[in-house]
Amino acid sequence: MKRRTLIVSSLGAATGAGIAIASHYQNQQQQQQPPFSQERQKEHGIARFAVTEKTSLRERAASQGLIYGAAASYQPLRANLEFAQRFAQECAILVPTNELKWQILRPTPDQFDFRRSDWMARFAQKHNMLFRGHTLVWYQALPQWFKETVNRKNAERILTDHITTVVKHYAGNMHSWDVVNEAIAPNGSKDGLRQTPWLRFLGADYIEMAFRTAAAADPQALLVYNDNNLEYDNPKTEAKRSRVLKLLERLKSKRVPIHALGIQSHIGASSQGFNAKKLRSFLKEVASLGLKIFITEMDVLEKNLLELENRDAIIAGVYQDYLSLVLDEPAVNTVITWGLSDRYTWAANFAPRQDGAPVRPLPLDTQLERKLAWNAIALAFDQAPPR
Ligand code: G3I
Repeated sequence: MKRRTLIVSSLGAATGAGIAIASHYQNQQQQQQPPFSQERQKEHGIARFAVTEKTSLRERAASQGLIYGAAASYQPLRANLEFAQRFAQECAILVPTNELKWQILRPTPDQFDFRRSDWMARFAQKHNMLFRGHTLVWYQALPQWFKETVNRKNAERILTDHITTVVKHYAGNMHSWDVVNEAIAPNGSKDGLRQTPWLRFLGADYIEMAFRTAAAADPQALLVYNDNNLEYDNPKTEAKRSRVLKLLERLKSKRVPIHALGIQSHIGASSQGFNAKKLRSFLKEVASLGLKIFITEMDVLEKNLLELENRDAIIAGVYQDYLSLVLDEPAVNTVITWGLSDRYTWAANFAPRQDGAPVRPLPLDTQLERKLAWNAIALAFDQAPPR
């Protein structure tokens, strides 16, 4: 709370210290009495997120001992030189959005196609960026052949072959792997685990098996359990946080090689804000298991946001609220956004606005210019306790 007050007063924007700007504006919206004209709200936002230096996000993060980076796809990185340059300037870590998923890597049961991901690994190396793998075990993005090929008998061999081959391919060059993605059920279930083909064929031990296989194939890469919907303050999210914690405790107690929790952080712009106390205590508990915490896929989604004119300030406010909160926990040492520019975002297709206006969830706009969300991230890094 102290640090947030400092940010706000140092920018000379005196109102609303400690109040989530998103929920602040939403409350105003609900009361239908905006505090200022649209024009004034805009100015208010700009003043609130004023950043003087032009230092990139990657440098700002690094000077606090943090890593900042983003997900990107092969196509735009390869085809849009300006985007590639901006990416290398702002990011210290690159995550292929889809190129390391089974759907792309495994055209047939016997083949591995590393062409796109290898190009991206070289791109990262050339620009002195870390490279991060997403994801070895997921229930989505599986190839066509999966359904008719994988069964109870061969699932273990197919899974361990996949992990061994892919992880070995990048061994020594991979910062971290999302070994297992989204294995916890969104609602309660036996073991708290999501119904997936892996659970059906292999039982709950598939998670442990995946981590052990990845560690054997690359003892250097950090091995991550990654999941979504862990951020909000409601009973469903709270229950999910406790199921994730149970899973992590179980893995640690069995000496499974796991090094970090990835919190995806796709956050709704119209969310009611966060419960600082509960979120902090969750992060503390994860950290107390000896795990690092990565923010792995952050963006701010406008699916349920009606406000249009002032949304950049609202979105920036969500970035500021969330990042200043999680960065208070020293175990959080990496922040990744799910994309860098609004020109290339999954949200355009998968989480569009109700009014059809183009979404603006990321630090750079469609012209690759920095916007308020960029400022908010920059400020959160500037104010983060050094690692
Ligand atoms: O490959 C075809 C392409 O040839 C075609 O032109 C295009 C037209 O729609 O479809 C293409 O593939 C799509 C791909 O995105 C690229 O746009 C896939 O159908 C689609 O399923 C895929 O969606 C990805 C989704 O994961 C599923 O893999 C999104 O890009 C990606 O942003 C999203 O990322 C997930 C993380 O992996 C896990 N956490 C949530 C996050 C957001 O959903």
